[in-house]
Amino acid sequence: MLKRNCFYSKVGFFSKRIILSFSLIFTLFIAINSAQAQDDGIPTDEAVISSGEKLFKANCKVCHAVDQRVVGPALKDVHKRRPVEWIQAFVKNSQKVINSGDDYAVKLYEEYNKTQMTSFDFSDDEILSIIAYLKAESAKEVVAAPQATGGDGEVQQEENTSEYMTIIMIGLIVVLVLILAVLGLIIGVLKKHLNAKEDISEEDKEIVDQKIDLQKFVKSNAFLGIVAFVFTAIVLKSALDGLFTVGVQQGYQPTQPIAFSHKIHAGQYEIDCNYCHTGVRKSKNANIPSPNICMNCHSSIKTDSKEIQKIQAAVDTNTPIEWVRVHNLPDLAYFNHSQHVKVGEIECQTCHGPIEEMDVVYQYSPLTMGWCINCHRETDVNTKGNEYYDKLVKLHNETSKEPMKVEDIGGLECSKCHY
Ligand code: HEC
Ligand code: HEC
Ligand code: HEC
Ligand code: HEC
Ligand code: HEC
Ligand code: HEC
Repeated sequence: MLKRNCFYSKVGFFSKRIILSFSLIFTLFIAINSAQAQDDGIPTDEAVISSGEKLFKANCKVCHAVDQRVVGPALKDVHKRRPVEWIQAFVKNSQKVINSGDDYAVKLYEEYNKTQMTSFDFSDDEILSIIAYLKAESAKEVVAAPQATGGDGEVQQEENTSEYMTIIMIGLIVVLVLILAVLGLIIGVLKKHLNAKEDISEEDKEIVDQKIDLQKFVKSNAFLGIVAFVFTAIVLKSALDGLFTVGVQQGYQPTQPIAFSHKIHAGQYEIDCNYCHTGVRKSKNANIPSPNICMNCHSSIKTDSKEIQKIQAAVDTNTPIEWVRVHNLPDLAYFNHSQHVKVGEIECQTCHGPIEEMDVVYQYSPLTMGWCINCHRETDVNTKGNEYYDKLVKLHNETSKEPMKVEDIGGLECSKCHY
């Protein structure tokens, strides 16, 4: 008993020592680390970094990446190249820094073909948080090339399955033809064999000598009946299909005059939809961007591309690019973007589908009256922070327990959608 106790107490003693020395080392480690973090004055806590990340993505990502030149330089380790105060001044007003004759800024400006960086009305702390984010990103390993998105993979898979189906079908047809050929051969051999036999009855002989009379078959009523039936079925089916799709252009995907890809711009580079479709939150129409907006970036990106030279030509000759319209309601219907996007806070993708994955835009929704009405029946009105709706909601709640739908504010009235 005694011996055991002694053993345990020894173990206890040692483990206490080990824990003690570990915690010592740990504290030392933290102390050194924080001392390091303190010396450049850039904060390292998660909250600051994540708010910096938000600011960067919303304001800078259009022109900057961490380890890749976009419109402006790669910002990896920018905190090592430049003092924090310099970066803050430059972000607030880069032209001021350049005009002050700062050597570094002037050189950089020349190097980037005098592309003006936007001025930002940010506080020093906000810019510091962006620097903190950039520093944290710079410390990370260089990430491999962007991965294909999930949606992409699915499309790929679908294409693969349909390819397999075709291959299987062709295989089946080949096998069938082979079987027929073999059967034909067997019949031939059997016939020869039977003909050679003398002791065969008259009846059997008739069967053996029988030839398929094609002409007789084609003229037979049964055959004519089948042909007539198939013909009527095809005509009927296409007529019905036509009837149900009058004016419906779902899936319409015209070829555009310039190979502009939403997958690259809105997907890969995450350029905000509003950057190009400037009217979408403010007015009825979303607007298609003018060539000048494209040239904000393309005066320095991919200038040797044929497609980009088409944009340059449009700017030079002052002619608009003739984009082919994809979505088109008939004149009798009225649709307003800002009402849906700004007031209703509906995502573009709800109506337009995964635009950020499309190389060429296609019409995702049917755009029929039934489609509009269905959504108005099912969707709750977004009343949050909208004083205008407060009274309506009160009235609505007196008579109903259901949340207020678009239907309840007149979303099914003919005159709302028809002039
Ligand atoms: C419209 C494009 C554009 C936007 C938006 C933009 N920049 Fe820039 N940035 C540039 C260009 C171009 C340069 C190169 C200098 C020049 O031409 O003025 C630059 C240079 C810089 C530099 C100096 C880089 C170096 O290597 O020394 C910093 C730092 C910087 N930008 C930070 C930011 C931050 C932070 C934001 C977002 C708040 C931002 N930029 C948004 C275009 C942009
Ligand atoms: C860099 C500029 C740019 C950005 C960013 C952009 N678009 Fe576009 N968009 C265009 C251009 C140019 C066209 C006309 C050519 C075409 O149809 O591809 C277009 C066409 C469209 C159309 C079809 C219009 C028609 O003819 O009916 C839709 C819908 C659309 N964009 C939605 C979006 C959405 C949603 C986003 C954000 C996820 C977005 N776009 C981001 C430039 C842009
Ligand atoms: C905010 C910056 C930005 C704007 C605005 C912009 N683009 Fe781009 N565009 C890019 C980037 C980045 C790439 C990818 C370049 C690469 O692949 O290296 C690109 C690639 C392209 C390409 C492919 C070029 C090729 O040959 O590979 C075309 C075409 C193009 N853009 C057309 C347009 C059109 C049309 C507009 C205006 C509606 C536009 N872009 C607006 C940044 C922009
Ligand atoms: C409630 C459904 C809905 C939402 C949400 C929506 N759109 Fe549309 N969009 C439409 C319809 C319908 C049309 C056809 C309008 C017409 O022909 O008058 C259209 C047309 C367009 C066009 C062609 C040009 C035009 O103004 O007619 C563009 C570009 C476009 N949408 C971009 C966007 C973008 C970007 C967003 C998100 C910010 C968005 N849409 C959100 C339904 C929607
Ligand atoms: C994805 C759902 C959705 C689709 C699809 C949709 N709408 Fe709407 N619509 C809304 C919502 C939500 C509102 C309420 C916005 C608000 O709070 O004012 C609304 C409001 C409206 C209003 C104003 C109604 C009122 O009483 O103030 C009109 C007009 C309208 N939509 C027309 C259309 C037309 C035309 C279409 C089809 C081309 C359409 N909408 C398709 C969701 C949709
Ligand atoms: C939420 C919006 C909305 C409301 C409410 C609405 N419509 Fe429509 N209506 C449309 C749209 C959008 C179209 C175009 C559909 C298309 O092109 O396929 C349309 C098409 C039509 C057409 C067919 C025109 C043609 O060329 O085929 C008629 C008729 C019509 N509406 C009558 C009405 C009547 C009557 C009411 C009231 C009971 C009404 N609509 C309410 C959006 C609406």
